[in-house]
Amino acid sequence: MSVHTSAKHDSGPLHVTGAARYTDDIPTLANTLHLAFGLSEVARGKITAMTLDAVRAAPGVVDVLVAEDLPFDNDVSPSAHDEPLLATGDIHYLGQPVFLVVATSHLAARKAARLAKTSYQEETPILTIDEALAADSRFEEGPRIYQKGDVAAALSAAPERLQGSIEIGGQEHFYLEGHAALALPQDGGEMVIHASSQHPTEIQHKVADAIGKPMNAIRVEVRRMGGGFGGKESQGNALCVACAIVAARTDRPAKMRYDRDDDMIITGKRHEFRIDYDVGFDADGRLTGVDFAQYARCGWAQDLSLPVADRAMLHADNAYQLPAARITSHRLKTNTQSNTAFRGFGGPQGIVGIERVMDHIAHHLGLDPLTVRRRNFYASGGTTTDKTTQTTPYGMEVTDSILDELVGALEVSADYAKRRKKVAEWNAANPVLKRGLALTPVKFGISFTLTHLNQAGALVHVYQDGSIHLNHGGTEMGQGLFTKVAQVAASVFGVPLEQVQITATDTGKVPNTSATAASSGSDLNGMAVKAACETICTRISEHLGGDAVFEGGKVRQSGREITFEEAVKSAYENRVSLSATGYYATPDVAWDRIKGQGRPFFYFAYGAAVTEVVIDTLTGENRILRADILHDCGASLNPALDIGQVEGGYVQGAGWLTMEELVWDDKGTLKTHSPATYKIPCASDRPEVFNVALWEGANAAETIYRSKAVGEPPLMLGISALMALSDAVASCGAPYPALDAPATAERVLAAVTRVQR
Ligand code: MTE
Ligand code: MOS
Repeated sequence: MSVHTSAKHDSGPLHVTGAARYTDDIPTLANTLHLAFGLSEVARGKITAMTLDAVRAAPGVVDVLVAEDLPFDNDVSPSAHDEPLLATGDIHYLGQPVFLVVATSHLAARKAARLAKTSYQEETPILTIDEALAADSRFEEGPRIYQKGDVAAALSAAPERLQGSIEIGGQEHFYLEGHAALALPQDGGEMVIHASSQHPTEIQHKVADAIGKPMNAIRVEVRRMGGGFGGKESQGNALCVACAIVAARTDRPAKMRYDRDDDMIITGKRHEFRIDYDVGFDADGRLTGVDFAQYARCGWAQDLSLPVADRAMLHADNAYQLPAARITSHRLKTNTQSNTAFRGFGGPQGIVGIERVMDHIAHHLGLDPLTVRRRNFYASGGTTTDKTTQTTPYGMEVTDSILDELVGALEVSADYAKRRKKVAEWNAANPVLKRGLALTPVKFGISFTLTHLNQAGALVHVYQDGSIHLNHGGTEMGQGLFTKVAQVAASVFGVPLEQVQITATDTGKVPNTSATAASSGSDLNGMAVKAACETICTRISEHLGGDAVFEGGKVRQSGREITFEEAVKSAYENRVSLSATGYYATPDVAWDRIKGQGRPFFYFAYGAAVTEVVIDTLTGENRILRADILHDCGASLNPALDIGQVEGGYVQGAGWLTMEELVWDDKGTLKTHSPATYKIPCASDRPEVFNVALWEGANAAETIYRSKAVGEPPLMLGISALMALSDAVASCGAPYPALDAPATAERVLAAVTRVQR
């Protein structure tokens, strides 16, 4: 099956039978060592004494390492060299790795890790956004500001004006497969690492620094992850580095896997935000000026917080033309887990901000929120009705919007107008159960904002029997990238998909890869693979006399037709190379993150969702009754996989904003560190009616077969669930509900009580 068809996920049967092999399933040698971290018990302070005798004496323990034992670089940061693998005396959060236990089994290592006796000189931790602001605890000097036009003037001249604030909680990734790593020492000090990582090259780099070797001595392999969602871009560095250090020190394989509680306590999550807004608009709800202050709780180390906070700023407009805007971003340093990438990478928080503004304006003016949203959309086709160009707050022209048409089509297919009336009738007739309805759009920028990351490589071999070996820099985390890219190869060679062997990501085959992130996996690696396959096709074609056509398992040239296998055999016997690399770099992107000006994105992906909810006004309990989605994947490479991404993204987004709640106590202990206390949506939380369709249309930008990236954008469709809850609460009284996220039953009940008063 070629591109644009719904080929099955290559690992589907392995996933459902349990046969798919993850890092922890790789058979290991009998002398393999198992590792566990000993964690700090306070959120901030200094270690004054640490007694590890009981740890060392525990059954099965082979070795215990502290920071002083590390032979080279004690750092696992992906950005600022501010993240020691093992604490160097200063404690920055509760759960920080302090020592490393090396034992003969996973359980022995974990049990021993709890036997340390440590005393601390405790300091008052900075835990919240307000505490960080009060202490001026930040990652950049002062806030970063992007602006367009004169906001102060626009606000003071505005006929109508509103201020408000929304708190948006963080989110645990809850990948099904927790973090895991395996290091296999080779001769001469080389090292092979198997990692559950979205970023094999970063692992290679950090391991090289940690064991004092050049990158060429380290090979990292990733066959698949059981989910990453951004949580495995940088947070796996620690496990791989720990394993490599132990493997180098002992010349034995070393393996590490976080138990779920450790995974949740140690690793970073989605950034919690508060967004304050001050907006001006006219009587029709058209925005004239917007002033946002975004406060991001970054945690203790920089990690990817700067680009995450940048992306939140870059999505502060979402789908709306802002005549004047100022976005101020505060990157706050706190004594909590170091927050990291999470599907949408800050974009979702930025979008929640403006969607809240739309909802608030509509409530204030007594208009349908969809009417207000529509009036502010970037116009389709790139020009507004008065033909002026429309630019984002960061100066990029928006020329590819399809939201007018897409939202129009969804409005019809979801029966929005009629259901709006029905919801009102229901609410008039029912005193306890109240319904709510909301339609929210998404416009999401595709490309890494760090421009040089927009590149990818591929390595393709055709063997003499005609079978194809495919390799590229992207990683598979369930999203179906490997299948899509194999479809590209099958299309170029004109062979059945089964003829293409998908292989593990391997830094020895394709070097200097970017993380599989920013939703750009198929855009980048698809293009690189296409280039490699085309190189081989061109060589075969030239060998056959030129202008050969590869189709249906056949190669046609000047009226004759031979099988692909015959063409390959002939090329091989005539000494034509059947192996090629491919490379791709995204064109037309250039961005100055300090000035906040440029074209950070190659194009935008669009979508919209209508969600209907019901709340119980006596308990605050709520559920999603129905969701209708129309999402733009351009000319989809694989509609079935894309619909899967849209469904999963929506549910993950709705889960973030409605039920997933992270709670820390005032000592900085994460209280929600297992599925017993942290609730992700389960199958029964899926909308009872769930209509998901893909927008038919090719990408205006020249992407791989005119498809569009799909990994992250649909997560933001879940924002419609939060807005629908707000709509339901609004039916209970006159004041604006000002519902914070996650809108758990408690928060919904509190909001109902507020507006009823
Ligand atoms: N889908 C599944 N099933 N599992 C995942 O971990 N990660 C998401 C998204 N969809 C993820 C997923 C994130 S955060 C990104 S950036 C993209 O997939 C990465 O893959 P892509 O670039 O191939 O879309
Ligand atoms: Mo996705 S947050 O870019 O890994």
